[in-house]
Amino acid sequence: MRVLVLLGPPGAGKGTQAKVLAHELGILHLASGDLFRAEIAAGTPFGREAKTYLDRGALVPDELTVRMIVDRLSQPDAQAGVVFDGFPRTGPQAEALDAALAKRGTRVEHAIYLDVPTEELVRRLSSRWLCPEGHVYNTMANPPRVPGECDHDGKKLIQRDDDRPETVRARLAQQLAPLYEVVDHYREQGNLSVIDGTQPIPAVSADILRLLRVGDRAA
Ligand code: AP5
Ligand code: MG
Repeated sequence: MRVLVLLGPPGAGKGTQAKVLAHELGILHLASGDLFRAEIAAGTPFGREAKTYLDRGALVPDELTVRMIVDRLSQPDAQAGVVFDGFPRTGPQAEALDAALAKRGTRVEHAIYLDVPTEELVRRLSSRWLCPEGHVYNTMANPPRVPGECDHDGKKLIQRDDDRPETVRARLAQQLAPLYEVVDHYREQGNLSVIDGTQPIPAVSADILRLLRVGDRAA
C-alpha cells in the first residue's frame, strides 16, 4: 500500500495536485474536507456536527476526524494506496495515521508540503470555483472552457461556503499552527519534501512526480 500525504495551508493546491497524483499512480484520493462536505450534503448527524466547525473555519476535533479516516482506509478501494489531502492536520492526527498504517505494515512514503505565501492563498480562494463532482477551477489561474460550467461534465460551478473572505481569514488564523506541528512530525521522520506551490499547476505536478520517481529508484 503506497501512502502519500499532501500538506499545505488552505488554498495551497492540495486538492488540485492530489487528483493528478491519484490518476498518475492509480491510487485513491482521500480528502478529509470532501468527506466532511459529503456528510454535510447528506444531512447526517455527523455532518451536522462537522458543519459547526467548517462554518467557523475551525478544525473538526481529532477524534471524529481520525475515526472517519481510519474507517475509509479500511475500504477495498484504498488497498492499492492513498494520497491524503487535508489529513493529517494536527500532531495527534499524524500520530494516529502512523499507528493505523503500522497495523497494515506500511508507513507514509512522502509528506509533500506545498509552500505558498498567505497573500496568494487569499487571492486563490476568492477566485476558486468547483463542480459538484469535485473538479476544481480558478477564474484567474485555471478557468473552465465555458464560464460557470465544468469541462468534464458540464455541471454548474459553485463556490464553497467557507471561501467567504471572513471564513478564509479564520481558517488561516486557526489552522496554520497545528499544520506546522504536522510538518515538524514528518521532518523528524525524514520523509518531508517542500515544493514551490507558487509555480503554475503543471510545474507543481511535474516537481512532485519527479520527487516520487527519484524515491522509487532509491527504494
Ligand atoms: P479542506 O477541504 O481540506 O480545505 P483546506 O485545507 O482549507 O484546503 P482547500 O481545499 O481550501 O485548498 P487546497 O489546498 O485543496 O487547494 P485547491 O487545490 O482547491 O478542509 C475544509 C474544512 O474541513 C477545514 O477548514 C476544517 O474545518 C475541516 N477539515 C478538513 N480536514 C480536516 C482535518 N484533517 N482535521 C480537522 N478538520 C478538518 O486550490 C485552491 C485554488 O487555487 C483553486 O481555485 C485552484 O484552481 C487554484 N490553484 C491550485 N494550484 C494553483 C497554482 N499552482 N497556481 C495558481 N492557482 C492554483
Ligand atoms: Mg482542497
